[in-house]
Amino acid sequence: MKGIILAGGSGTRLRPLTKVTSKQLLPVYDQPMIYYPLKTLLDGGIRDILIIVAPDHAGDFLKLLGSGKEFGCKFTYEIQDKPEGIAQAFIVGQNFIGKDSVTLILGDNIYEDTFKDAITSFKNGGRIFIKDVNDPQRFGVVEFDKNNQAISIEEKPKVPKSKYAVTGMYIYDNTVLEKVKSLKPSGRGELEITDLNNLYLEEKNLDVAFVDGQWFDTGTFESLHEAIVFIRNRELAKKKKE
Ligand code: DAU
Repeated sequence: MKGIILAGGSGTRLRPLTKVTSKQLLPVYDQPMIYYPLKTLLDGGIRDILIIVAPDHAGDFLKLLGSGKEFGCKFTYEIQDKPEGIAQAFIVGQNFIGKDSVTLILGDNIYEDTFKDAITSFKNGGRIFIKDVNDPQRFGVVEFDKNNQAISIEEKPKVPKSKYAVTGMYIYDNTVLEKVKSLKPSGRGELEITDLNNLYLEEKNLDVAFVDGQWFDTGTFESLHEAIVFIRNRELAKKKKE
């Protein structure tokens, strides 16, 4: 199993904080944001990790993370020239993925849960992780039939068909490399991760798992603040116990 952290994009919703640095390098309490998704992959036993960054701050990621030795893993870096979609990670990363399966995590997603079992038990198809939220229209949203089977996923629907958001971690078998080549850019000019998930769903090959603990997509000031408060309280509680 290979791992990819997607840490490109322009972070426009967090301007001016992201004018001189990348969103994924911003502090979340006492650590840079990207440390959290990195820990999620490491905790899942993944040791070979591709970090995809935007051209502007590539050097800063290298400075922060280095070769991976410090974290007991190996990092490879690739540049995504333009933010042309989350699914483009599998085009940028195709040589890195080779013949393996791959777990992709977004560099601004923070999870409380461990995904060790979900990652190590993965065999084939696709696996996504959903969470009930109050503002599903901000996310990819899963529609279920009356037997609670997922039947479709819609990207940022105006009228969401459920309150279950697709969170920013995805596990795929090697057919992802073929599937991504068949995607066409969406109305906003991006290769959509939701379209990719729908291809697995059409094949009846998408496992939909639930996220139990807290999950944050830190792409807005509100959610970034919530994540910082959560991590701070957790760390202070840990220190008190020690
Ligand atoms: O957080 C989960 C959500 O992430 C999913 O529910 C949605 O289905 C999915 O489209 C995505 O929605 P966002 O609106 O959060 O996507 P955003 O464009 O903010 O990108 C998420 C992260 O990925 C962000 O940290 C920047 C990075 N990114 C994004 C794009 C489009 C890249 O590195 N390159 C890209 O081309």
